[in-house]
Amino acid sequence: MVENMKRVFINGYGSIGSRLAQFIKDDPEITVVGVGKYSPDDKVQDAISRGFDVYVPEKKIDSFKNYKIKGTIESAVASSDLVVDAAPGGTGYVNKKQLYEPKNVMAIYQGGESVFGDERVSDLLFNSRVNYKEAFGKRHVMQGSCNVTGMGRILQPLREKYGSQIVRFDGILVRRWADLEQTEKTVPDTIEWTPNPHHGDDVKFYMGEKTPLFLQVIKVPTRQMHLHIMNIRFKDIAPKPDEILDLFKNEYGVATLWTAKGTKQIRDAAESMKFSFKDTNMIHIHANMLECIGDTVKMMYSDDQTGIVIPENHILMQAMLFQKPYEEAFAHTESLFHMAEKKRLLEEYFAKKV
Ligand SMILES: NC(=O)c1ccc[n+]([C@@H]2O[C@H](COP(=O)([O-])OP(=O)(O)OC[C@H]3O[C@@H](n4cnc5c(N)ncnc54)[C@H](OP(=O)(O)O)[C@@H]3O)[C@@H](O)[C@H]2O)c1
Repeated sequence: MVENMKRVFINGYGSIGSRLAQFIKDDPEITVVGVGKYSPDDKVQDAISRGFDVYVPEKKIDSFKNYKIKGTIESAVASSDLVVDAAPGGTGYVNKKQLYEPKNVMAIYQGGESVFGDERVSDLLFNSRVNYKEAFGKRHVMQGSCNVTGMGRILQPLREKYGSQIVRFDGILVRRWADLEQTEKTVPDTIEWTPNPHHGDDVKFYMGEKTPLFLQVIKVPTRQMHLHIMNIRFKDIAPKPDEILDLFKNEYGVATLWTAKGTKQIRDAAESMKFSFKDTNMIHIHANMLECIGDTVKMMYSDDQTGIVIPENHILMQAMLFQKPYEEAFAHTESLFHMAEKKRLLEEYFAKKV
């Protein structure tokens, strides 16, 4: 057993919680205390059959009498060093006040929470590419949502290289309606627009409020990833496509695909290559859609909604629990997620035809 093992409880076993539990159970530095369930449905048995202890709210324990439940969520939280809150958006704040703070336990919150207003869960919105070290010593941190995390992976390298040469980032986020497993959610035949989306403010929260980012957000009837259409305007003439692609060659969690025609094709490729949960855990720049015209770079990249935040949560966990140097934490996450290999396989699968 590794010295200084830490105990982690995953509160919520939906799209995010179930993935996290599955990946971090193989981490030799962490004991997964178990997972929290709130509804007595098939996912309880699913968690048990994968070897997880299931905990339920004390006041609901009777409704789980047909399942082999380990104990109450309240007791699981109290016996943990850190909780990953994977609750439906907006519930994390209530959990913080009613559970985590009273039991003096560290917590990571997901992107459906907020870092603004009276119900903010943290004063740090985490993006490993931008502010890894700022999580040292923090007890409550919010992981950015899938779109917010994906934008960081594109905007931060651009900003580092081109700085004040960039005048604006204008993005259209095309969001998926539901996740693959959310079969209870129907995908209606409509396109919805989102007034006052949180995504831009969230990105500016970690990249700086002066970041010239302007977003419009729509939701479309698909379960297959998000797509960002990002136009980057430069003061003078924009760099050439090759220079932009070079910038992302060695970026963690960014694959460059030449021949993908759509998001479902990428998901299918992930499935055919036996990636866990059919997730790529990354974003994919669609090189065949990249154009540089005058002062503007026009990019499109897709964002694996469920997968992208899972390795991020794991990196964040290491910052909060162990305060590891970034390279060490990153290498440890890589040993569980094999992102470099997945990137190589995807890039090969969708390579440029010569
Ligand atoms: N799905 C994505 O692609 C995605 C990507 C990035 C970030 N996020 C964020 O991650 C969070 C979780 O999203 P999700 O998609 O995983 O949701 P989800 O699939 O609906 O799962 C939510 C889980 O939370 C459980 N739950 C219910 N009440 C709870 C409570 N009071 N405390 C803790 N857990 C509770 C539910 O349990 P029962 O089923 O037993 O009722 C369910 O297992 C949200 O903040 C979301 O915005 C989601």
